[in-house]
Amino acid sequence: MKKKLLGAFLSVAMVASLFAGCAGPAAGGAAAGGAAAGGAAGGSKVGVSMPTKDLQRWNQDGANMEKDLKAAGYDVDLQYAANDVQQQLSQVENMISGGCNVLVIAAIEGSSLGEALDMAKDAGIPVIAYDRLLMDSDAVSYYATFDNYKVGQVQGQYVIDTLDLDNASGPFNIEFTAGDPGDNNAGFFFNGAMDLLKPYIDEGKLNVVSGQTAFEDVATPTWGTDVAQKRAENILSTYYADGTELDVWLCSNDSTALGVENALAANYTGKYPIITGQDCDIENTKNMIAGKQSMSVFKDTRTLASQVVKMVGQILSGSEVDVNDTETYNNNKITVPSYLCEPVFADANNYKELLIDSGYYTEDQLK
Ligand code: BGC
Repeated sequence: MKKKLLGAFLSVAMVASLFAGCAGPAAGGAAAGGAAAGGAAGGSKVGVSMPTKDLQRWNQDGANMEKDLKAAGYDVDLQYAANDVQQQLSQVENMISGGCNVLVIAAIEGSSLGEALDMAKDAGIPVIAYDRLLMDSDAVSYYATFDNYKVGQVQGQYVIDTLDLDNASGPFNIEFTAGDPGDNNAGFFFNGAMDLLKPYIDEGKLNVVSGQTAFEDVATPTWGTDVAQKRAENILSTYYADGTELDVWLCSNDSTALGVENALAANYTGKYPIITGQDCDIENTKNMIAGKQSMSVFKDTRTLASQVVKMVGQILSGSEVDVNDTETYNNNKITVPSYLCEPVFADANNYKELLIDSGYYTEDQLK
């Protein structure tokens, strides 16, 4: 009953978020305009540090941030760090010495930027952690992200509903692939799904054939598609080569789901499993349309960017900064006031409305 209620709650939240989201582009534009009108934008420079160009979403995040910040009248220093922690550290240090007034950072490795964050604090420069929490530092002013635990819940609930776990007798075979242990989000995604699925594992309705259920065992350093693919190939050849059927591969995001999908294509001929993901990357959306991935969780990067631009304006104009969570995100030093945007369930049935009608992708990009 409790689970059913949660399912219902998630569906309502998903639909509601379709219409509300957090700050939509219009709201962000208005707030940013407000900051500009208040004079805060004039001459202010914002440093935006992104982890890598290798994964699709960060290119979108960076481009959206740059566009929205420029539209609001800020100078922008946007840098990508090629998933190299030292490079990100020196880029952020350069942003500080280059006179940025606010820093927006999506970290490669949450706890690796301490030195630069101390420098920012000494220089009185506010820091916004973007999507990924900056860990082990009291120099983080705000955090803007999607509700990471809920992302995992949406994935877990999808598995429960699709297999009808409360009524079906099973057992069903399942494997897990989680994210990068250096990314604080990865644990939230994994726990969101695992907290819902564990009772069924304990009951024997879900059977983890490889026996790998601990986060450390299923994690994917760098979130790399190749890393996830290698582990999936090993699991398939060790545990499924004898014809054992796989019912579900719970993947925390799209880059890892792609690795699992590649591994399945070359190493598995049984009934195609349920595969979860997150981000609605182009390749994965194509795979959803082709029936090779069951679902994804859409996190509209335009929404997050406009929320962060709004925060920048509020910080620089000394207004109250919009947050909706002051309890969840402790970085081992402080609990960082956060704004959590709503993640949205996506599959082959609603992708058109979510992704094409909203202008996120063109139809051609998904061909
Ligand atoms: C983001 C996910 C993304 C992953 C890999 C996480 O921090 O929240 O959206 O899939 O990093 O880039």
